[in-house]
Amino acid sequence: MDMRHRFLIYPKATSTENMTTPTPTIRKAVFGDGSAIFQRIKSHPNELVPRPLSDILLNIDRFLVAEYNGEIVGTAAWSVLPELDPKRNPSIEIQSVSVRQDFQGQGLGRRLVEAAMDRVMEYRPDQIIVLTFTPPFFAKLGFVPVSKETLMYKLYQGCVNCTRYDSPFTCPEVAMAYYPRDHQPGASS
Ligand SMILES: CC(C)(COP(=O)(O)OP(=O)(O)OC[C@H]1O[C@@H](n2cnc3c(N)ncnc32)[C@H](O)[C@@H]1OP(=O)(O)O)[C@@H](O)C(=O)NCCC(=O)NCCS
Repeated sequence: MDMRHRFLIYPKATSTENMTTPTPTIRKAVFGDGSAIFQRIKSHPNELVPRPLSDILLNIDRFLVAEYNGEIVGTAAWSVLPELDPKRNPSIEIQSVSVRQDFQGQGLGRRLVEAAMDRVMEYRPDQIIVLTFTPPFFAKLGFVPVSKETLMYKLYQGCVNCTRYDSPFTCPEVAMAYYPRDHQPGASS
């Protein structure tokens, strides 16, 4: 496997961390985390799509959590998007990325998304996508802006049910994609 796609699901020092910064542990979620994940996502009503507890529990195997002193201080999740072209692999959408406010700016969001990407790269997706209000954060992780027209399956699966905006095309969320093929050894940057 391309080692550039290997991200650690362990405490990992970054340039923004120092010896006094608490370092949460990133691990797979378990059913007992459901309520804490629900509250974590709900705490960002303007940035994250709320998810019912039942949805969280049914997809618990698609969640990672960051735990510190027994508390869930961060989450990241993913879902698989359909692909009708048999010659292409499905895409994966990164969802529900949350870092508790007092842990923000310490590299935890990066560690969570990198750990989620590490996990989903095992499935060899054609692309990893995100719809986000914080494009600079995802740009730091190798995502590039894409036209929403290229993500019609996402729009049909999720956005059509949105009650907040008239249309996915007037929604201010920015569509971004990470193309694994562009990060293979020898790929032109
Ligand atoms: C967005 C969020 C997950 C970032 O988490 P974080 O732990 O603060 O981010 P990190 O410290 O790992 O930042 C990683 C990099 O992204 C940059 N970054 C993070 N948030 C940013 C923002 N809002 N604008 C610009 N850059 C940002 C950091 O400066 C850092 O850059 P560096 O690697 O050059 O130092 C967090 O602010 C959050 O939970 N926000 C509310 C929910 C949300 O918006 N989720 C994402 C929607 S899909």
